Amino acid sequence: MRIGKIDIDRPVILAPMEDVTDRAFRQLCKRHGADIVYTEFVSAEAIRRGAEKSMRKLRMDAHERPVAVQIFGNTVESMIEAAAIAESFDPDYLDINFGCPVKKVAGRGAGAALLKEPEKLSAIASAVARAVSLPVTAKTRIGWDHDSINITDIVRRLEDAGMQAVAVHGRTRSDMYKGRADWGRIAEAKQACSIPVIANGDIWSADDVVAMFAETGADGIMIGRGSIGNPFIFSQAKHLLQTGDRLPLPSYRDRIEAAREHLHLSLEYKDEKYGVLEMRRHYSTYLKGLPGVSKVRNLLVRETDPAVIVELLGQFEAACEALDREGRLKEGGEFLNDHSPKLILNY
Ligand SMILES: Cc1cc2nc3c(=O)[nH]c(=O)nc-3n(C[C@H](O)[C@H](O)[C@H](O)COP(=O)(O)O)c2cc1C
Repeated sequence: MRIGKIDIDRPVILAPMEDVTDRAFRQLCKRHGADIVYTEFVSAEAIRRGAEKSMRKLRMDAHERPVAVQIFGNTVESMIEAAAIAESFDPDYLDINFGCPVKKVAGRGAGAALLKEPEKLSAIASAVARAVSLPVTAKTRIGWDHDSINITDIVRRLEDAGMQAVAVHGRTRSDMYKGRADWGRIAEAKQACSIPVIANGDIWSADDVVAMFAETGADGIMIGRGSIGNPFIFSQAKHLLQTGDRLPLPSYRDRIEAAREHLHLSLEYKDEKYGVLEMRRHYSTYLKGLPGVSKVRNLLVRETDPAVIVELLGQFEAACEALDREGRLKEGGEFLNDHSPKLILNY
């Protein structure tokens, strides 16, 4: 798949996710094999105002490349101005959000709302493509609701507007995140245009990645929720695509190490207070199913000292190790039987 100078065969891509795909998480996914990563979406209006939180979201690191910045907005003017500012942060490409379903975005005529105004969507896409010298792509849904599915028209418009690729989430706006993503509609989108199509929606395993490539004929695959607490999904998918073999499930050691790595990256990019705070919602997904997880999670989310958090994770790992030596863990680290032994932690 080619976008500007980026040329990757069957890329497996980290989806943009607000409050998730910050620099720390993007780098973690990159280390675990993501081919391309996206920033969280950033409001064009906020970029225009120079709002500090939004400007911070535009920053990236050399280790993340290739990385795309995603912007959203509801007017040609704000989008052109924001695109030029975003370009100065030197991402590999810019992406326009035409898919966000949430009220604060779609309720204001941006994101998925533009699926109801195809002329305006075309105008924004072509104005942004002309305003910057970086490649520009778009991400969208298959329609506003099930009575107005218009993805084939939309992808043709995006191609005509100069988009270099389009990511399609196989749901309508009215679906929000309910039901199953419709991969058949993504296949139709792929047939309808000649720019690369990136398929998105309901990838939870490496096998899903292989199935989605086969069912949609897409050029790339984008993973959102399936990567949260599970950055291993990228290397697993790449390995399966390249060799036809499955990597073993991550062990408890791998999962605890990923939590530790995420914490360190979080501390590197945020100050200590926010680095620690923002990690709190991630522990349960990294450690899900491991023995005694609720106890250790309760300790981790109350702790403010990163050194103590690292110590707790180390103790937890040692406790898992002891159970493993007794043969009481199955692959992936979960318990063989359903009673949780008491874990002895010093805190
Ligand atoms: C917490 C969260 C935040 C999201 N934020 C964005 C965003 O900023 N921009 C965007 O285009 N999509 C966003 N999405 C949608 C995802 O990129 C993706 O399209 C969707 O989750 C479907 O893919 P999945 O089934 O692999 O999760 C978000 C999704 C979640 C769960």
